[in-house]
Amino acid sequence: MKHSRKLVFICNGSDCKKAGAKNLYKELKRMTAEPDLKGSCKFIKTKCMDMCKTAPNVIVGDHFCKNTTAEKVLIQIKKS
Ligand code: FES
Repeated sequence: MKHSRKLVFICNGSDCKKAGAKNLYKELKRMTAEPDLKGSCKFIKTKCMDMCKTAPNVIVGDHFCKNTTAEKVLIQIKKS
């Protein structure tokens, strides 16, 4: 059986934090607690990804979300 839980890496470096990474994380947690998405992703906080100019940065699978919002990340989670 294929394991379908998606890995979502959220940068928690100082620039991304300033750009709202903490709220982004909280928002994503809340959004993915809905019954249709429950247990579908695993969030991992990372150190600086060295892409601070485009903060906040999130990686969903092999897709890099730059300057992102919780809504954009959610769309990517549903797509991948
Ligand atoms: S702080 Fe997030 S990429 Fe540097």
